[in-house]
Amino acid sequence: MLCKSSLRTLAPTLAFFVSVTNALVAPRSPTFFPFSFPFFGGGGERGHHHHDGNPGFGAGNGGGNQGSSSVCSNGQSTQNQVCCVWYDVLQDVQANLFSGGQCDDFAHDSLRLTFHDGIGFSFALTAQGLWGGGGADGSIIEHSDVEMSWGVNEGLELIVEEQRKIADTWGVSYGDIIQFAGAVSVRNCAGGPKIQFLAGRSKDTQAAPPNLVPEAFDSVDTILARMADAGFSANDLVDLMASHSIGFQEHVDTTVPGTPFDTTPQELDSQFFLETMLRGTINIGGQNTLNPGEALSPIPGEFRLQSDFLLARDGRTSCRWQEWAAEEANMQAAFATAMAKLAITGQDVSQLADCSEVIPNAQPYTPRLPHLPPQKSFFDIEFSCPATKKLGNGNNRGWQTLPGPLQRIPTIYSQPGFLRTVVQATTKGSGGIWDWISSLFN
Ligand code: HEM
Repeated sequence: MLCKSSLRTLAPTLAFFVSVTNALVAPRSPTFFPFSFPFFGGGGERGHHHHDGNPGFGAGNGGGNQGSSSVCSNGQSTQNQVCCVWYDVLQDVQANLFSGGQCDDFAHDSLRLTFHDGIGFSFALTAQGLWGGGGADGSIIEHSDVEMSWGVNEGLELIVEEQRKIADTWGVSYGDIIQFAGAVSVRNCAGGPKIQFLAGRSKDTQAAPPNLVPEAFDSVDTILARMADAGFSANDLVDLMASHSIGFQEHVDTTVPGTPFDTTPQELDSQFFLETMLRGTINIGGQNTLNPGEALSPIPGEFRLQSDFLLARDGRTSCRWQEWAAEEANMQAAFATAMAKLAITGQDVSQLADCSEVIPNAQPYTPRLPHLPPQKSFFDIEFSCPATKKLGNGNNRGWQTLPGPLQRIPTIYSQPGFLRTVVQATTKGSGGIWDWISSLFN
């Protein structure tokens, strides 16, 4: 079977083959493609609805020339000269990382990476006089020898190396590239709000302490305590979990790789919150026992993490969870606010410049009412918010059941652009025939 895991195993081999062949047949070419796409150029909006969600954390000017509009050497107009380079980075990221601005596999990985870097921060360790981590500092790239050896970071190997190359090309810090690519990746997915982007994180980092990234097999007590120790409330956590609306798993149950967490993995919508509230009945891997971190799923082909199952049912998180299952626009705005908070974890905001102007336009998106998948009814929902549980049918928020049979949700391998992402990641910028092969997948 063609799967991302095997392609990822294949990728280094292919990359090695490419580099050896390349050394023999062709000169190296730059690591970015010099053509432009119509959607580059941040600022404006298109699409049916959007949220800017900038929480107004009051960035400093990062040493730049902020206030009046000026023109960058690349022709972009900007409010702050220190933002100029980010227009170049945007073009590189969209063309070469996200295959022309797609909500693809690298977009999902980039979003996950914002969390795995940013959550590496602990007030408790600092209070004990120990190193508490630098938060959203890019240490997961700078110190990948340490951090990528942790099992919790499995699956982030390729994105770490791709982002390292881009940051090095443009001379920006790893902390900045991670949060920038994360904010851009969200914009490539329908329904993705605009997330504030502050630039200027230091290039000087230390590896994060181990065991700070929550695991899918952790209890809610453990997860909430970990989040609080990094400065996040239970509400913040629920807001951040909207990210799983565009997620897939590969490593929790390796027998069903590439299985998504909701029925609409290309959209940052409310379906994830609603579907995780449904009663689980299926072990989608077909085994007799669940893997650590796995919960029974309500829908063939949909994967449910145990942590998501528990958060949807715990009294400390279930009310907001249920709210986001019904209030999509508010959910997207809250997600943007929580992401902006994650992006400055451990950072001195007065040293950062607000370059949100570079974050691209929204994808066209027509909001629909969150819906129950075919064959599922209101009675399949496990209402868990203590305040409203007793209301029974009064909880119905207008969720309608989609018509038709309940079909298996396709894996990521059938999502648009999947093969292209892997081929481009291993061949692009290698020159000669390899760039030609890469271009075939555009
Ligand atoms: C309690 C907290 C969390 C836990 C336990 C958790 C756990 C996981 C696990 C186990 C996976 C599957 C990885 C794989 O098998 O390849 C995953 C995927 C993902 N996570 Fe989380 N996560 C949490 C919070 C977050 C947050 C806060 C974000 C972003 C801000 C995030 C973004 C993602 C994304 C985008 C994916 C999909 C990656 C892909 O499609 O390749 N997660 N998460």
